[in-house]
Amino acid sequence: MKKIILTGDRPTGKLHIGHYVGSLKRRVELQNSGEFDEIFIMIADAQALTDNADNPEKVRQNIIEVALDYLSCGLDPAKSTLFIQSQIPELTELSFYYMNLVTVARLQRNPTVKSEIAMRNFEASIPVGFFTYPISQAADITAFKATTVPVGEDQEPMIEQTREIVRKFNSVYGDALVEPEILLPDNQACLRLPGTDGKAKMSKSLGNCIYLSDTEADVKKKVMSMYTDPNHIQVSDPGQIEGNTVFTYLDAFCKADAFEKYLPDYKNLDELKDHYKRGGLGDVKVKKFLNSVLQEELTPIRARRKEYEANIPFVYQILKEGSEKAERVAADTLAGVKRAMKINYFDDMELIAAQAEKYKNQES
Ligand code: TRP
Repeated sequence: MKKIILTGDRPTGKLHIGHYVGSLKRRVELQNSGEFDEIFIMIADAQALTDNADNPEKVRQNIIEVALDYLSCGLDPAKSTLFIQSQIPELTELSFYYMNLVTVARLQRNPTVKSEIAMRNFEASIPVGFFTYPISQAADITAFKATTVPVGEDQEPMIEQTREIVRKFNSVYGDALVEPEILLPDNQACLRLPGTDGKAKMSKSLGNCIYLSDTEADVKKKVMSMYTDPNHIQVSDPGQIEGNTVFTYLDAFCKADAFEKYLPDYKNLDELKDHYKRGGLGDVKVKKFLNSVLQEELTPIRARRKEYEANIPFVYQILKEGSEKAERVAADTLAGVKRAMKINYFDDMELIAAQAEKYKNQES
């Protein structure tokens, strides 16, 4: 069986370094591993509209931001198909058929949807499209016969629901769909990078994000004002590593050779942490080190972004060609689905012949 990746993001804002360590970096590695036959990366604008019905302009403006972030991180249109969800009408059609295989109660149990509903204060006024987006996500995944879906842990319930839909479909109509596997980030610190203020999640509304498109000066400013251990006041005070955002970021970003380059007094991160815990190591020194580590990672990304920013029509062309290719694949899957459901009436010569036969007999 072919190994196929599908994943994507809602275009509701620029991508930040949490997205980068949590998913983008891994995608690029997977892309370059040569282990996959096909890679589809989707800008999920239709899904973004399920809770932004009043604000289509936000979604529209952010498509290019996400595309620029993808390309600048090293997703390569020659190796990965980058496309826009709404340009693939087959996805909507698949969703419509899958809706019959899922109960309202099952959707209500989806923990990610539950917490999103609470977060958005939808309460009694949940848009139907939002409520059913796990079904549309199953369409996204199965349309491309994805075997592997690299996503964050918050997406686990979606993949589980997709697997249920696939099993149900295949048992009712015969094997037409592929059951996907989730691929979670491997580094614990990357599962969910906290915001620069130490809060559980980076989010635009909290203003605690470091964006991939931030300038060198922005990044430095954000790092130097990051949340650390509030009880580590004097340099000589013993400090805490746990819950200390600077160290969480170092866990996520620091490479083995960084000490030699930027902080040769220490051999590795454990030594640095030990000194911090003992006392005698100031936050500023650790922050400066983190800044060097981050800048090293972000500088080439920023440079590539500039190149693509200078050629926006070309970026749209990449998305257009990607969407055309994605549609061909999705159309093929949809044809298979309709064949399995036997709703491909005009191609079903057996059906037409049988009906003709039935009425011929009635005449005589
Ligand atoms: N739900 C994902 C997010 O919020 C985006 C998404 C839509 C997706 N369809 C998908 C991810 C299919 C993986 C597979 O980021």
